[in-house]
Amino acid sequence: MYVLGIETSCDETGAAVVKDGRSVLSNIVSSSLKFHQKYGGIIPEIAFRMQLETITGVADCALKDAGIKLKEIKLISVTAEPGLLGSLLVGMSFARSVQLALNIPVLEVNHLYSHIYANFLNAKPIPLPFVALIVSGGHTSLFYLNGFNRITLLGSTQDDACGEAFDKVAKILGLGYPGGPFIERLSQKGNPKKIIFKCSQTKEPLNFSFSGIKTAVLYYAKKHLGQKKDYRLTCDIAAAFQEAAIDALIRKSLLACRLKKAKRLVIGGGVAVNNRLRQKFIQKAKEEGLKIYFPSRDLCLDNAAMVAGLGYRLFREVRYGN
Ligand code: KG4
Ligand code: ZN
Repeated sequence: MYVLGIETSCDETGAAVVKDGRSVLSNIVSSSLKFHQKYGGIIPEIAFRMQLETITGVADCALKDAGIKLKEIKLISVTAEPGLLGSLLVGMSFARSVQLALNIPVLEVNHLYSHIYANFLNAKPIPLPFVALIVSGGHTSLFYLNGFNRITLLGSTQDDACGEAFDKVAKILGLGYPGGPFIERLSQKGNPKKIIFKCSQTKEPLNFSFSGIKTAVLYYAKKHLGQKKDYRLTCDIAAAFQEAAIDALIRKSLLACRLKKAKRLVIGGGVAVNNRLRQKFIQKAKEEGLKIYFPSRDLCLDNAAMVAGLGYRLFREVRYGN
């Protein structure tokens, strides 16, 4: 069954065709990022205006790339939440208009759950149950999954998301936006042990907090870096921040697995592109006897293939119970 996925929760306009919830036939992402860069963050009005202009072309392109005709699509899956309201409305209105034209079902899906589903694309299915960590620019959450319609939230960030902290620390250090890739690159040249940063403790053990560490970086940079351009020190700060952020993610994820007696840990979201994060998670999971899963890098960041895949899975679970 061919499913058309539509993703417009943030700055991207995504459309994809996925076969049977597994094979990605096309996955087009058009980003309005360069129009936001000078503001150092996403401007919702710019995002949804660009999405209005590009959605039809992007969907057309996804169909062409997949070699599929519109009438062969049997289901549309679209991101309905969470995200920027105007952006979500563009995707959902587009999906509804295609539905009217084709008379096929539309499923509205959750963006975070689709990040989890990215692990099932072009890969073997992961046996349930498992713990999932979603670590992105807007969210940092731990879930327990017994099925894609039986998901329990175990904990989430009580202030900034992890990716947001990467973005803000990059801004403090005078780097570009989005900050994650810049911090990762500088960290490779820095010494993560030279400065010690720590993420704040949280009252709920499975919650996260990243705003304190960001402020700690700000004060440290003001005091020791000031207006100087000290490449070495900038690399050390980036590395120390990255290490502390990753350690907090690992600590909480492993605790969630222990508490839920889970044997599998599934990671998703934009920050999961990070190589250091992957390495450290793999090593710690091995020590704990856990199986760990990551999506391929191109499926970590926002895309519509994960939305199409999740739509198929939910459609089957509701209609056929599997
Ligand atoms: O999942 P995503 O594409 O969008 C949201 O749903 O939020 O994630 C974007 C986030 C940004 O905060 C970006 O800085 C972060 O992912 N990111 C990274 C890396 N590449 C992207 N963070 C750390 N290291 C990276 N290499
Ligand atoms: Zn996302």
